[in-house]
Amino acid sequence: MDQLRELIKGEIGRNIVSLGIVESTNSLAMELAEKGASHGTVVIADSQTKGRGRMGRPWISPSGGNIYMSVILTHPMDLKEATFLTILAGVACCGALRNATGLPVEIKWPNDLMVSHKKLGGILTELKSCGREMLYAIIGIGINVNIALEDFPPEVRKIATSIKDEKGKTESRTFLIAEILNELDRWYHVFAQQGKNSLLNEWRKLTSMMGKPVQVTMGEEIISGLAHDIDEGGMLIVRLPSGALKRISFGDLVVLR
Ligand code: BTN
Repeated sequence: MDQLRELIKGEIGRNIVSLGIVESTNSLAMELAEKGASHGTVVIADSQTKGRGRMGRPWISPSGGNIYMSVILTHPMDLKEATFLTILAGVACCGALRNATGLPVEIKWPNDLMVSHKKLGGILTELKSCGREMLYAIIGIGINVNIALEDFPPEVRKIATSIKDEKGKTESRTFLIAEILNELDRWYHVFAQQGKNSLLNEWRKLTSMMGKPVQVTMGEEIISGLAHDIDEGGMLIVRLPSGALKRISFGDLVVLR
């Protein structure tokens, strides 16, 4: 951990809680936030027994050099702005992974980290609010780094990949974590000082899905159309076959190739 601390440039990652096995780094980060943990505190684990993914799914979290971490953000923010943190986290993680590994990592809405159409990582942002104020945000980040794909269940192997699998060699987890935390800090300041525009533009550069046919499953409802853009709130805009534009706030997206 000393090596990691030396690589940290900003406020995010200045305080690190590093553990072996936890239920979920997001749950632990939430407990720490409730007890008054400072802005930028990070919880890192080697493995999780109850890792959580989006839409209530489990996040399989074996030990073996993957990243499971959660960042606590407590600076005051309007709840409407806070929903944008998920876009910010996607941009920071994708940029950091590109810089650190040279892999052509892309974002698939809302914030899946993809390489060669397979999932390399995911981000789960959880917020606690009071009225219109955000009290704190937890940004949970899971990245498949040094895992051999045989260690995942067969159904996950078909849709997931790891840095080791893509590059044919292992990467330093410490270096990757530092790169991600430094990028989060940098984009957090850009967002706080300049607003959303440069982040939205960066997000658009890091995705290749715009203009492509997509299918989004939102519970019972399935929507098909062309991915058109994301809006200021991080919602996906889909052009329906009728030509109408529809905004989508959540769901599972498949790019139809
Ligand atoms: C997704 O479904 O794509 C989001 C996955 C997020 C997983 C990470 S691993 C660290 C943190 N702790 C959790 O329980 N989940 C997130």
